[in-house]
Amino acid sequence: MNVPLLDLVAQYAAIKDEVLPALLRVVEAQQFIMGPAIPQLEAEIAALSRAKHGVGCASGTDALLLPLKTLNLKPGDEVITTPFTFFATAGTIHNAGGTPVFVDIAAGSFNIDPAAVERALTPRTRAIVPVHLYGQMANMERLLQLAQPRRIPVIEDACQAIGARRMIDGEWRAAGELGWVTAYSFFPSKNLGAWGDGGMIVTSDDATAERLRKLRLHGGAKQYHHDEVGTNSRLDTLQAAVLLAKLPHLAAWSAKRREHAAYYTKALAGLTEVRTPPVDPANEHIFHQYTLRAQRRDELQAHLKKEGIGHAVYYPIPLHRQPCFAHLGYQGGSLPQSERAAREAISLPIYPELTRPQLDRVIDAIRGFYR
Ligand SMILES: Cc1ncc(COP(=O)(O)O)c(C=O)c1O
Repeated sequence: MNVPLLDLVAQYAAIKDEVLPALLRVVEAQQFIMGPAIPQLEAEIAALSRAKHGVGCASGTDALLLPLKTLNLKPGDEVITTPFTFFATAGTIHNAGGTPVFVDIAAGSFNIDPAAVERALTPRTRAIVPVHLYGQMANMERLLQLAQPRRIPVIEDACQAIGARRMIDGEWRAAGELGWVTAYSFFPSKNLGAWGDGGMIVTSDDATAERLRKLRLHGGAKQYHHDEVGTNSRLDTLQAAVLLAKLPHLAAWSAKRREHAAYYTKALAGLTEVRTPPVDPANEHIFHQYTLRAQRRDELQAHLKKEGIGHAVYYPIPLHRQPCFAHLGYQGGSLPQSERAAREAISLPIYPELTRPQLDRVIDAIRGFYR
């Protein structure tokens, strides 16, 4: 039995009777641009994030880029982030005119180390971009303790973490609730995925929300009146309709992922050659990815491929070692935890529709390799 890394066809089969009529309503009204599904979805995602505003946009990448643009970064302005993430986190800092300052992830975690952030602060620090990697929130309370007294905005990259929560001072706080702004991606493979590209920014800052609404429409609140230069980064109404139809399932899907994760973790606990994903006890993880640290990772990968087990390495090259950032001067060994994670990480199938026999097949294949 082969097990794919992701099976979107299985999800489609389960929900098509809800999504297709929603799409048809958009088609029959021919309201493709900024139709009523957009503000409805914006309100629902903002509520989920316990934020005041949602601003739909074309992708998760734009959901990072547009807020960074509002900072009017000048050459030499620094934005602190993690190198152990998808490229867009740092690519957007560069494209907004800033310099990414990479700091290491915390040992035993996949998320940014607040102590490393503190060491990297300078008078030119203009923002901090933590990533809630794989669906688990970064240590927001420590980051905010550093950022708030210095009035440094925190941009949450929650592209992998919609619906994730963290217990802070005895209270659940949502991804999207605490940062100045938060970026979501609706890339099809995400826990809440569109049928194409899509993204959203949430914020509780009224002025920023208003500015972002303009920036995604060429910088104009009124047609043909431009306060500043923006771009075309609308969320497609068809995608918003898909997402609205899927949203009521999100909590149950993420719970299923947690259930699968617990099953893998129990079954793999005795294997000394792998470390199962760390879950900070303060966090409710949404398991966008289930990522092991594995000895002989590359050989394990080849074995899983031969066995027909889907898997992926997110991310094989940390961003401070990418050729496009060579000019920043980071040497090999400079961010050892991120470099180690890039050597050891391997993600397994974790989509909600996985069956028990499929999970057992994945577990057997991993155990078989280390036997
Ligand atoms: C951590 C992270 N940041 C940013 C992005 C960019 O999102 P998109 O692919 O929707 O542009 C993604 C998703 O791919 C991501 O995983």
